[in-house]
This record gives sequence, structure tokens and C-alpha cells, in this order.
Amino acid sequence: METILNKIEAALAAIPYPQQPEGLYEPIRYVLSMGGKRLRPTLTLMAYALYKEDTERALPTAIGLETYHNHTLLHDDLMDKADMRRGKATVHKKWDENTAILSGDTMLIMAFQHILRTDCHRLPEVLNLAARTMQEICEGQQYDMNFESLSDVREEEYIEMIRLKTSVLLACALKAGALIADAPKEDCELLYQFGEKIGLAFQLQDDYLDCYGDPAVFGKQIGGDICCAKKTFMLINAFNRANDAQKAELNRLLNDVDEREEKVTGVLALYDELKIPALCRERMETLYAEARRIFDSLPIAAERKQPLWDYAEKLLSRKK
Ligand code: IPE
Ligand code: IPE
Ligand code: MG
Ligand code: MG
Ligand code: MG
Repeated sequence: METILNKIEAALAAIPYPQQPEGLYEPIRYVLSMGGKRLRPTLTLMAYALYKEDTERALPTAIGLETYHNHTLLHDDLMDKADMRRGKATVHKKWDENTAILSGDTMLIMAFQHILRTDCHRLPEVLNLAARTMQEICEGQQYDMNFESLSDVREEEYIEMIRLKTSVLLACALKAGALIADAPKEDCELLYQFGEKIGLAFQLQDDYLDCYGDPAVFGKQIGGDICCAKKTFMLINAFNRANDAQKAELNRLLNDVDEREEKVTGVLALYDELKIPALCRERMETLYAEARRIFDSLPIAAERKQPLWDYAEKLLSRKK
């Protein structure tokens, strides 16, 4: 695990960026150097390692997917009006909105340039997968924004939205690693499905931490989702479980209260009253049970695939 992370950090640090124009490349260096879990490239390298030893071969694609992920963060923080990420000012705050757009665009292009460096005869498959995934993420992000102004989003609609905005990239990262290792088609599909399941739980945990995380560890401002009226698992189920008085209070807090502290504290109090945190944990456990069934059907020796499960399982209790 540590070796994988070291390889990713070293490869990211070694990316050569042009010096000029500084306003374009400096924010890219900034966002890519401030850490993060490196989840997607780790999944790519771990999936590759299920089949082959020379993980370096999957590194360009891994780095491409991390660069792409950071591109989505620049644009997502602009769309979500988020001021803090990984404990630091977001790009649109430290610089400005145009910078977040253009440096973000550049990272999307650079992502493809990284992937193109992968030495693999199935590169067209990898590129097709990446392109389809990126388009799906735009679809997910559009639903996420549409839902902000809707009051009757169903849980199934939320699940499909997070599958698109979050899960497919984890699934893509795993499948890409398998494709580069020239794994059988069935394995590639199973790894994709496995990634979709853990990706849903991953976004549920993100929504949970947005309410209950420690900002010093989580690195993002708590209550951002509540302030944007995001239709998260938490909010949808709060409305589902609320009685008329609680519904009225939720609507009042979301629509009529402008003061951030009062809004967030009030909504969180209702979540607690309605036992939403426990419901969220339960749903994550269910998703992991589904992920486990898919994982078990992957025809690879148990001891060889165990590290991937261990890594995925750690995400379930992550604090950041
Ligand atoms: C944040 O992703 C965006 C989501 C899909 C929730 P991560 O939680 O993987 O962010 P970093 O890269 O570790 O900072
Ligand atoms: C993340 O959703 C989805 C993408 C970045 C594509 P969020 O908006 O919940 O992610 P965070 O919480 O800002 O990291
Ligand atoms: Mg966001
Ligand atoms: Mg968002
Ligand atoms: Mg979030």
C-alpha cells in the first residue's frame, strides 16, 4: 500500500508544467500538491496488481485519472460555492472564478495526455472508458444541481445521481487497471461493478462527513450541503421520516433561515432526532455487503485479492 502511494506521489510531483502563463499552471500545481487520498490512482494500481507485478505500467493512466479528479474538484467547488478543500482555500477563492474554470479545463486535457502515455495495446478501450465516464460525471453533476431546487427527489433518483457523479470514476479506475493488465473481460466487468458499489457508499460517507466530520480532518467546511439544499441521502430520508411539524421545521430552516450557523445546527438536530446517521451507516453496510458478493465472485486467488478488499473496507470508516 505504502509503495503504491509513494509511486503515485512521486509521479504527480514529477509532472513537468510549463512556467508560463503562471496564472494557468500555478493553481494546477497548488491543487495537485495538497494531498488528498489518491483513491482513484490507488484503485487503478491495485487492480493492475491483481494480475501483474510491474505496476509502473499503469501509472500514467493512474496519474491521468487523479488529474481528471482534481479537474472536477476545481469546477465542483465553484458550483458548490465551497471555500475550503483539503484544509486550504479552494482555487476560485485563492485566485478567482475564471482561474478555476481555465486551470480546471487544462487539467481535463492533461488527464488525456497522461492516459495516452500508457503502454498498452488496449489503450483505445481505456480511452473510451475514460471519456464515457467523464461524460457521465457531467450528467451526475447536472442532476446534483437540478436537485438543489427540487423538493421531491426520491432516494432512487439520488442513488442514480451519485452513481453518475462519483461511483463511475471509482469503477473506471479499477476497470482501467484491469484493462491495462489485459485481464479477462468478465473480470473487468466485475471490478467495474465492485467500484460502483463502493463508490455509492463512498459518496454516502462524504454526505455524512459533510454533516458530522471534523473540519480539521475532513478539510472541507461542515454544512456545505445543507447550505446549498443538496438533496443528500441525509436530507431525503429526513423528509421521508419527518412528521408534519418536523417537515415544516425542515422547510423553514432550508428556505427561510439565512444565518448559516442557525440553519446547519437546526437541520443537524432534526437529523439526530430522526436517527438519520444510523440509517446512513446501515445503508453503507448494505452496499458493502453487495460489494463483497461481487468481490467474492472475482476468479482470483483469495490472498492475491485480499489487499484490495482491505483497502476498500478502510474507506468505510474514513474521517477524511
Ligand atoms: C471528493 O473526493 C469528491 C467526492 C467524490 C466526494 P475525495 O474524497 O476522494 O477527495 P480527495 O481527492 O481525497 O481530496
Ligand atoms: C463530488 O460531490 C462529485 C464530484 C466532484 C464530481 P461533492 O460536491 O459532494 O464533493 P465534495 O464534497 O465537494 O468533495
Ligand atoms: Mg462539492
Ligand atoms: Mg458537488
Ligand atoms: Mg460532498
